[in-house]
Amino acid sequence: PQAKLIKLRDTVANRSHRVRVKGWVHRLRTQGKSLMFVVLRDGTGFLQCVLNDKLCQTYDAITLTRESTIEVFGTLKLVPEGKTAPDGHELIVDYWKVIHKAPGGLDAFENKFNTESDPSVLLDQRHLVLREDKTTKILKLRSAILFAFRQHFFENGYFEVTPPCLVQTQVEGGSTLFHLQYYGQPAYLTQSSQLYLEAACPALGDVFCIQESFRAEKSSTRRHLSEYTHLEAECPFISFDQLLDRLEFLITDVVDRITTGPFKEMFYEMNPGFVAPKKPFRRMRYVEAIQWLNEHGVLKKDDDGNEVGPFEFGDDIPEAPERLMTDTINEPIMLCEFPAEIKSFYMPRCSHDNRVTESVDILMPGVGEIVGGSMRIWDLQELMAGYKREEIDPSPYYWFTDQRKYGSYPHGGYGLGVERFLAWLLNLDHVRETCLFPRHYGRPCQ
Ligand code: 4AD
Ligand code: MG
Repeated sequence: PQAKLIKLRDTVANRSHRVRVKGWVHRLRTQGKSLMFVVLRDGTGFLQCVLNDKLCQTYDAITLTRESTIEVFGTLKLVPEGKTAPDGHELIVDYWKVIHKAPGGLDAFENKFNTESDPSVLLDQRHLVLREDKTTKILKLRSAILFAFRQHFFENGYFEVTPPCLVQTQVEGGSTLFHLQYYGQPAYLTQSSQLYLEAACPALGDVFCIQESFRAEKSSTRRHLSEYTHLEAECPFISFDQLLDRLEFLITDVVDRITTGPFKEMFYEMNPGFVAPKKPFRRMRYVEAIQWLNEHGVLKKDDDGNEVGPFEFGDDIPEAPERLMTDTINEPIMLCEFPAEIKSFYMPRCSHDNRVTESVDILMPGVGEIVGGSMRIWDLQELMAGYKREEIDPSPYYWFTDQRKYGSYPHGGYGLGVERFLAWLLNLDHVRETCLFPRHYGRPCQ
């Protein structure tokens, strides 16, 4: 039978077993005329294959190239002391054949890009870069982390829903919408599934989704994508404090699952210095952040980058000062109670201070904001005033507004940027490293 490489580890005990495997030529090395080592890759693992004598003297062997697909038959053997091979064993090949040969010469895989290549070359060659060790590891960890998020939610009684991407409502402001035509009607690509999750709560209780969100962000930063994977949750009958507790639990629980689960070795290889954040996270109010910036002499800048004076209550805290503060404090921060004017139409005001809202951003060292969340206005008149303040036409929102008539309820939720979470957890420079095919300003959608 054909084996997956990951299963061969168990087979090594039974060395007389002859196996057949298929995969891609990951590395290739010849030693003299009668010995060739091929490291085979199949996504589940790596296997060093040893081709002796005649097997490495055929035309196919002499012209074999990296990333060709081959099929090999042979017997597993533990590698001799002092020699290394993936997982400590190798396959002594007795028969092999080419399934498909990749180009050699100038077009050879190894000539397409290297670690020194410009980022734009790496993005043009993304379909090949994916096969490279670091990218493969990131994608495997991404899969494990999405699984850990799902485990967290399922084990805590949430249902998963799949909201639509084609919508007629904005959630986070009109300036970052991607517009499109939907059978002759104006529509957008979704910025957030929040409104749909809110609609699902009365049917399903606690809900979550892992869905693409789209933002036409015309800025090239290390944390902005035009399409990103948005993990969102919505919870009925919770208080603002309970929302903060749930967020803290989500992050520490998922980190725990990754740092103790089956991918822990791969994870620590990627981020050897990682120190898991402990509960409780530092809680800081927006006014305290403004004070922090003032005390540290951080000044507000205009669009041309000129310093224009100290931050004041009501100012948006842009990416650079937010990062500076988070990196200086160097621990997760739950930044709470943003002024209503700089937040979305759906956020309720705090009972102790009418100027600010029951809102939270989670800031992580190295990345900054990875989560945005809040309680939701659940009173009909207050919601109508929210639309008005943001100059939103309420008509396409009729189904959302209606929920404030049919059994309204206090509730809250949040959205976590999966790529930003990964950039933080894996200590990566840019969110695009965490995507299969990143979409961001200045790049075509190849
Ligand atoms: O803070 P945001 O805009 O909040 C919302 O969309 C809420 N409606 C979510 C909710 O309450 N259900 O976005 C949430 C998170 C951000 O904290 C950030 O991690 C990520 O989404 N995000 C982006 N990630 C990559 N590229 C972008 N352009 C992003 N914009 C937001
Ligand atoms: Mg935000």
